[in-house]
Amino acid sequence: MSIQTAPSGTVRADGTVALFGQGRHEPYAGSLSHGLGRLTLRPDAVGPDDIGPVHFNMLGFSAPATAVERGLLGTLRGPVLDVGCGPGRMLAAARDLGLASLGVDTSAPAVRLAVGRGGTAIHGSIFDPLPHEGGWGSALLLDGNIGIGGNIRVLLERVASLLAPGGRLLAEAETPDFLDVAYLAVLEDSSGHRSDAFPWARAGAAALAAHAARADLAAVATRRVQGRVFLTLERRA
Ligand SMILES: C[S@@+](CC[C@H](N)C(=O)[O-])C[C@H]1O[C@@H](n2cnc3c(N)ncnc32)[C@H](O)[C@@H]1O
Repeated sequence: MSIQTAPSGTVRADGTVALFGQGRHEPYAGSLSHGLGRLTLRPDAVGPDDIGPVHFNMLGFSAPATAVERGLLGTLRGPVLDVGCGPGRMLAAARDLGLASLGVDTSAPAVRLAVGRGGTAIHGSIFDPLPHEGGWGSALLLDGNIGIGGNIRVLLERVASLLAPGGRLLAEAETPDFLDVAYLAVLEDSSGHRSDAFPWARAGAAALAAHAARADLAAVATRRVQGRVFLTLERRA
């Protein structure tokens, strides 16, 4: 397979694009249909840096937003764009809080679930043209979604361009703080069923703040709650 890195995915030899958890055995779509199980994101090939796996609990994606997530959402102004909304737990929480919101996700089953939950969501990529560009009060990049596209700076520049001046991005970082990696990853279910390889990235709080500064986003708050790390990034006016 010949691979070329592109902001919205990996272009295969046949011109199609590889995206998070898609292709080959479609483990993401399969796990979404059960709303259960654990998915593992791991490097496609063993590299010199020996990047460890990331585990996603599908029950957590399907369950209602946690109290911490609702609390953070309550600090934001609408309308809220949930980037990589998955099955839509944050859209449901935004609706409960009276915040207008829209999800965007490249997974058709995820979008169907989000809409079935009463949310509004678009099947497409964050790098596609979107409604209300430059007018979003806030955006979300949670659950590792800063990795979308495999180039954090490019993703942050795109999200910054969607925000209104002074608009805020709530982005979840990882630990340790200086983690900063980009690589081709695969998603695998507990039976070993893998997706195609897709570009992904991961960053800790310090690395994410540095990428954000280059994308004209200022880190205005860092919150460490229940083992998770959230940065609030503000688009400079
Ligand atoms: C780690 S999962 C997070 C799921 C989600 N936040 C939730 O609450 O269930 C990453 C999500 O980003 C989506 N995604 C990947 N690439 C994307 C892109 N270019 N644009 C929009 N969504 C994307 C995936 O389909 C997947 O739903």
